[in-house]
Formats: sequence, structure tokens, C-alpha cells
Amino acid sequence: MYLLSIESSCDETAAAVVRAEDGRLTVLSDVVASQVDTHRLFGGVVPEIASRAHAEVISSVTYRALSESGVRLSDVDAVAVTDHPGLIGALLVGVNFAKSLAYSHGIPLVAVDHIKGHIAAAYYDKEPPKPPFLSFVVSGGHTAIYHVRDYTDVLLIGGTRDDAMGEAFDKVGRLLGLPYPAGAGFDALATEGFFAAVGQPVPEGADGEHPATVSAARRFPKTEAAKELALPTPALPQGTLDFSFSGPKTAAVNLLHRYEQVGKRPDRALFAAAYTHTVTEAAAKKLSEAMDRYPGLPLVLAGGVAANSHLRAALSSLSRERGVRLVIPPRSLCGDNGAMIAAQGYYEFLAGHRAEADLNASALD
Ligand code: KG4
Ligand code: ZN
Repeated sequence: MYLLSIESSCDETAAAVVRAEDGRLTVLSDVVASQVDTHRLFGGVVPEIASRAHAEVISSVTYRALSESGVRLSDVDAVAVTDHPGLIGALLVGVNFAKSLAYSHGIPLVAVDHIKGHIAAAYYDKEPPKPPFLSFVVSGGHTAIYHVRDYTDVLLIGGTRDDAMGEAFDKVGRLLGLPYPAGAGFDALATEGFFAAVGQPVPEGADGEHPATVSAARRFPKTEAAKELALPTPALPQGTLDFSFSGPKTAAVNLLHRYEQVGKRPDRALFAAAYTHTVTEAAAKKLSEAMDRYPGLPLVLAGGVAANSHLRAALSSLSRERGVRLVIPPRSLCGDNGAMIAAQGYYEFLAGHRAEADLNASALD
């Protein structure tokens, strides 16, 4: 069967065509129109501008996905669309477009939860994980651990009580002068910082997953820089799988102010390393506790922040120590995209879930 998917929950308008054959999913096209350049001017996503930009390109993005895939609309067996959570105005553009397309062509419509979509990006792996498994979903707006009991049965077992991890990087990144979204720039700066702290040059092309960076990051807590720039650990006490990232964010703001008051600035790279260390350690600690509660289950890392090479490295070593399998989608499938919505749409379709003409969008989880 062929699925056409539409995603417009935040600042990317995306559409994909996916073939499902004998339970295997293949991406035939995956078109993403990012509004990031527009929102960068404001230092974050402006909801009204996002809705308008989706409305402008949704039709061309969808028809491009169809033409790139070589699949005709009349051969599409299901239209999958993100209906929640996200920015309400942005979601409504995708939901209404998908509804019109599906009903005018007599194609079944399937509603997809954006978070389940992020998790479903893992189903494109060479060896797709099969539920049950654990998933850590980290994006600009979400940070949560899920127990994926079945393809369409996903239970929240821990979530952030305040900021999402992506937000924690984006906001502190802004203070360091990094353009929005700061995630990727922060990632590279932290790599530089880990090497600077241990007094080594950065090997060519090294990111957080490079063995030399992993080793530098491991030695980082014992360095002078780590002592000077120490931030409070945001890990909540044992017993909850919830996170809290507002503490280190506020501590980072205060630390920068203290430096400013004496006319100084901390080294940006060292500071990025210290912040990344604190935040990734806290995430790894809660995932370690989740692994204690659900022994042996594989772990799927998903969402835009899954692109963070230091987080990937920390969770790789944690999974290795625990002897559990870790699945991380390729970077192109970590940020918002249509292929992930089609993958989840496929399993919703198999479960018999259909949306009707009264389908509405919802901002809430
Ligand atoms: O999943 P996503 O594309 O959108 C949401 O649903 O929020 O995630 C966007 C987030 C942004 O906060 C961005 O800074 C972050 O993903 N991000 C990263 C990296 N690449 C993107 N954060 C840390 N390190 C990265 N390499
Ligand atoms: Zn997302």
C-alpha cells in the first residue's frame, strides 16, 4: 500500500510518500519546507507567521512529494496527517488540507500523534525495533520517556516538569550568541569545549560520537573548567522518571550575569561543554532508572534533539553498559518530517483507526 503524509505542527511543512510492503516501510519521497530562516529573525517560532507560511506552501510541498515519488494520488491508499500536539493554527492548516484531499479523492484519512510519529522514525531502521521498547523523545517542545507497549499503544512514564531539552539548549544558546535554533551550533561548540578543557586539539571532523570526544567528555568533570563553570545537576530524586531543565538554564543565566558584572565573559566553548555535560548526564540518569524499571527493553532515541552528538554518545555508552539495543534514526528523520508521520500512520491504519470529516486539531498532548 501507499501512504501520503502531511505534517505542519510547528515550523516545518512536510509531506512524504511511503510504500508499505510485507510490513516493510520504504520512503519514496520526503519533502520538508523549513521556515527556520523566517523565525530566526525573531529568535524563536512566531505562531501566526508559522500558520501563514504553512498555508502558502502546503499544496506545493504535497504535490512535490507525490511527483517525486512517482505515485499518483489515485493510487494512494491512506492520507496520514498530524492532528496533535503542536501550534493550533499550524496544525489546522495540515489537518484541513489533508481532509480536503482525502474526501475529494475518496481516500481513507488517518490522524497521527506527532510524538508517536517521532518514535515511528525508528521503523525505517534496517532492523526495525518491535514493541515493547522504551523511547526517549527529545525535541524543542518535548522531553519524555515512553513505554511503547504496542505500535499504537504508547504510555508516558516520565516527562519534563518545565523546559524541554531542545528549549534548554536553544535559550542558553541564544545567550551565547548562537542563531536560532541553537541546537546544532551548541553541539559543535561543546565538542570544542571538551577538547579545550583537557588541553587537546579537536581532531578533524570530530563530533560528540568520535571516540576522542567521548574520552575528553569523560575526563571533563575533573578539569579546572568544569570546576569553574559547575552548574547544579537538574536530576530529580530517584523514584520519578520526570525531568527538570529550568534549574541549569537559570543557573547558566546567573553565571553569565556574574561574569558580566565583573566585565568578563566565560569561554563560550567551555561553557557549552559544561552545560551539555550537565544536561546530558541528567537525561542519562533518568534513562538509567527507566531501564531498571523495564529491564532488557531496547531504547529508541527520537526527536530533533536526538541529533545531538553528545546525547547520542552518552546514551550509546549507557545502552552498551546495560546490554540493551539502542536505535537512533538518521539525523534527517530526527527533526520534523513527513516520513515519520507516514510510518505511524501505517500502524494506525493497520489497527483500523480512521479519521472522519469532523477531525479537529488539538494543541495538547
Ligand atoms: O523535533 P524538532 O524538529 O521540532 C519539535 O517538534 O520541537 O526539534 C527541534 C529542536 C530544536 O530545539 C533544535 O535546537 C534541536 O531540535 N536540535 C538540536 C540539534 N539539532 C536540532 N539540539 C541539540 N543538538 C543538535 N545537534
Ligand atoms: Zn517534532
